Amino acid sequence: MISLVGMPGSGKSTVGRHVARHLGLPFFDSDHVIEQRIGCSIRAYFESHGEPAFRDVEAQVIADLIRPGPGAVVATGGGAVLRDANREALHAHSTVFYLRSTPEDLARRLRHDTHRPLLQGSSDPLKRLRTLYQERDPLYRRCAHYVIETGRPSVHTLVSMVLMQIELAGLLPDAPKAPPPHP
Ligand code: S3P
Repeated sequence: MISLVGMPGSGKSTVGRHVARHLGLPFFDSDHVIEQRIGCSIRAYFESHGEPAFRDVEAQVIADLIRPGPGAVVATGGGAVLRDANREALHAHSTVFYLRSTPEDLARRLRHDTHRPLLQGSSDPLKRLRTLYQERDPLYRRCAHYVIETGRPSVHTLVSMVLMQIELAGLLPDAPKAPPPHP
């Protein structure tokens, strides 16, 4: 079981999907599973039920997805690490990669985003991202087994870095099977 944590916009879903394909494992995006369960967008759910209710659903989905075994690649939502139980489950039952990005890089990548409720309505998204980063960077580090810097590299390079680390750690002795992803 492999999981990815990190700030919104750090590339968890994109990198996770490529890594899963390369290893021949199923891929799950926890936000996507949450939306299937709640039957609406996360943004709408935040507005109607509030953040604590969303975090309850998120914790249930993480507990269901993260099980011992080689199973799958899971990309988590940026706030999944806020709850101790989620961090503990992720760390104990999966190999956790933290895709680390600076708030400046994230602000650039998310400048047209309209989906992420925590970034909507902020007149200064960079300031908001800096605050979130300060709160969360220590939690991502505590939860992760490996930290991957996402500053400059392409998706292809990031995927290769994750795969190399998996191979070095001897986590999947029979993998990889598929050819490397195209740049
Ligand atoms: C959140 C990040 C989102 C989503 C929700 C809350 C957060 O996921 O789970 O909007 O608290 O940072 P991404 O990291 O995939 O954007």
